[in-house]
Amino acid sequence: MTSHFIALEDWSDAELRGLVTLAQSLKAEHFQGGNTPILAGKTLALVFEKPSLRTRVSYEIGMRQLGGNGLSLSPQEIGLGKRETVADISRVLSGYVDGIMARVFDHNTLLELAKYGSIPVINGLSDSHHPSQAIADALTLVEQLGDPAGKTLTYVGDGNNVARSLLIYAAVMGVNVRIAAPEGYHLTEDEMDLISERAERNGASFTPFIDPIEAVTGADVVYTDVWTSMGQEEETAQRLKVFPPYQLNLELMHHANPGSIIMHCLPAHRGEEITDAAADSQQSVLFPQAHNRLHAQKAVLAHLLGGVALT
Ligand code: CP
Ligand code: NVA
Repeated sequence: MTSHFIALEDWSDAELRGLVTLAQSLKAEHFQGGNTPILAGKTLALVFEKPSLRTRVSYEIGMRQLGGNGLSLSPQEIGLGKRETVADISRVLSGYVDGIMARVFDHNTLLELAKYGSIPVINGLSDSHHPSQAIADALTLVEQLGDPAGKTLTYVGDGNNVARSLLIYAAVMGVNVRIAAPEGYHLTEDEMDLISERAERNGASFTPFIDPIEAVTGADVVYTDVWTSMGQEEETAQRLKVFPPYQLNLELMHHANPGSIIMHCLPAHRGEEITDAAADSQQSVLFPQAHNRLHAQKAVLAHLLGGVALT
């Protein structure tokens, strides 16, 4: 059976930790000037239904650094599900390339690509999950905190795709995870159960909050993301009314632990979910976090397309 990287739920704790270890070793190799061409002759198709900077560049350049090629396809070019069915596109691409990385509106589109094709499918963000981001976040936690197990991470804001994947990955790394979101914008009960399960299995805890100050008190990491995700633009006005108490600003950070760090997947809507002062503060690791996308994505590619084992 072909392996895919569509949702973290499909991956065991050991595999997820193994991906981070692989990302660390690929990063070290990169900075020692020696990317091994383990993907020589391989091509990844990058399919986008939404805009992207980090995901597109990190997967495309990641392929190149490992000796392969990335081919980006915009929605206008292939008309996913419009000009042609998702199933047919997947069947066709399976004869041309060695993997598909796709950024889609509906998570089911990824499941369909996987069902009808015969090559690995990688989730470059769907409405419900962003595992490619989460592995880079896990790598950043390890770099910034040493062993992150036993530390506390609070995600403040919308219970969205980024939150869902982040909280699972951090829980697998043994981090105590919390979320502060307004009523109506939390993860579902089932999703919270999944996070709790992973956390408890790894000696950690998961706690949901409504009050952001309570949630941030005692945190070592405070993380936020946009209040309105791509595809939700018609809800912008309503969300702008609800979310301001959840802004990540220096006042909120005063409640976190001394030496705590600030994370954000980017792109940031500065002045909304995060202030300039917080994003550009000494505590911010936004850019090392973004740079880690490259090394994290190379780990996914090396494993799925290059057959590199996880240890
Ligand atoms: N964080 C992230 O996925 O960035 P892009 O939308 O620019 O790819
Ligand atoms: N939650 C955001 C993440 C962007 C990387 C969105 O889906 O638009």
